[in-house]
Amino acid sequence: MSGGNIIVITGVTRGLGRAMAEGFVRLGHVVLGCGRSEREIRALQKSFSAPHDLRVVDVASDEQVQAWATAVLVSHGPPDLVLNNAALVNRNAPLWKVPAAEFDAVVDVNVKGVANVIRHFVPAMIQARKGVIVNFSSGWGRATDADVAPYCATKWAIEGLTQSLAQELPSGLAAIPLNPGIINTDMLRSCFGGSASNYRSPEDWAKIAVPFLLKLGSDDNGKQLTVPIRGAHD
Ligand SMILES: NC(=O)c1ccc[n+]([C@@H]2O[C@H](COP(=O)([O-])OP(=O)(O)OC[C@H]3O[C@@H](n4cnc5c(N)ncnc54)[C@H](OP(=O)(O)O)[C@@H]3O)[C@@H](O)[C@H]2O)c1
Repeated sequence: MSGGNIIVITGVTRGLGRAMAEGFVRLGHVVLGCGRSEREIRALQKSFSAPHDLRVVDVASDEQVQAWATAVLVSHGPPDLVLNNAALVNRNAPLWKVPAAEFDAVVDVNVKGVANVIRHFVPAMIQARKGVIVNFSSGWGRATDADVAPYCATKWAIEGLTQSLAQELPSGLAAIPLNPGIINTDMLRSCFGGSASNYRSPEDWAKIAVPFLLKLGSDDNGKQLTVPIRGAHD
């Protein structure tokens, strides 16, 4: 993909989503982003003015995603790249100690939120006969650990959901489950505590991830991919 692509990113207020948004904008692409934190979205709107479009949207709400997609599809047309990045992790705990409301929230954002975005953006991409959908998975979507069972369940679900979607899409489109690697974000600090600082920053990660994402195309449909970051702690 060359400059000027329309890129939808969920979860742009922090972490990987924010670093990707900054990276794509720097390369001349148009970012349509969302997150729940109103304060962060307002600040991003000041840094990234039109044609970029940042909105307060909770991806767990089908109604909010529908309103967001309807508005930006009219203003910007079908996206070239959709990055389903927004996610939550449960507080470290064995499964039987995870409260029902917390389990529900992880599933609502990590699985249903991704389905909501696909439901409202993909029909326009199918009509345009092009576009790539990247669903953020994890090492914990391909292996497991103790104390993150709800998160693991959702990321294994993302791998399955994405493979099914890849079988449904017409030619010209792609759906890809992506493991981003291990990066020092709020999410990693929640799981790893102080040792999260041994891992690379989102900004360093984005220097590799953004060009990698821009190279994805319809030939990658259904491929289980990992961002090629390498180093002592990866
Ligand atoms: N960091 C890692 O090492 C790592 C490893 C493997 C996979 N991943 C995956 O990579 C992706 C990004 O992770 P991260 O580490 O950057 O996480 P993070 O630092 O916790 O950031 C998560 C982002 O998602 C947004 N978000 C959460 N719930 C949302 C909702 N309901 N609606 C809209 N936005 C929402 C958050 O913004 P608001 O709070 O403002 O909504 C925030 O911008 C996730 O899918 C994660 O599972 C990360």
